[in-house]
Amino acid sequence: MTDNIILVGPMGAGKTTIGKRLAKHLHRPFVDVDEVIEKRLGVTIQTIFDTEGESGFREREKNILNDILNENNNAVIATGGGCVLTEDCRRMIVCQRLIIHIDVSLETQYQRLRLDKKRPILQGGNLREKLKLLREQRHQIYSSIADMYLLTDKKSFRQIARLVSSQLSPQS
Ligand code: S3P
Repeated sequence: MTDNIILVGPMGAGKTTIGKRLAKHLHRPFVDVDEVIEKRLGVTIQTIFDTEGESGFREREKNILNDILNENNNAVIATGGGCVLTEDCRRMIVCQRLIIHIDVSLETQYQRLRLDKKRPILQGGNLREKLKLLREQRHQIYSSIADMYLLTDKKSFRQIARLVSSQLSPQS
């Protein structure tokens, strides 16, 4: 069993922001799966979707998650919102030490993402409807693999850090 902490949850929930702060607080490295994908391939996620479609992106996401998990043993790792859709990714994630479902209310999510241009699956159409549908499709998947649930809208980072530390302490 590794000591990695994995953050799963919807787009705009704050996985990257919280992950960075948490990593600093816990003196661990921080890794963002989407950032590694873009760095290794030298193109944006939008370009991968444009050239290879969502299935091509999911394949790349799976391979890079596998590499990241092989290369890290005590990191805080933020995954993309759709990573858990891939069965192999779920299988890799559930072997890690602590899986945190970072969640956000639909309204806060909408406010954070309404001007977003970087997330291919949110472009075009009615954003509120899309976010609602994605939540219906994915919420249960996040819940089913997570050890811990954090609705972040109304929590301070201090509260979040305390909750995470208490989850880690019994085994460390
Ligand atoms: C996606 C979420 C994004 C990114 C890609 C697809 C999704 O990551 O991986 O645009 O399907 O939910 P964030 O959750 O970090 O925005």
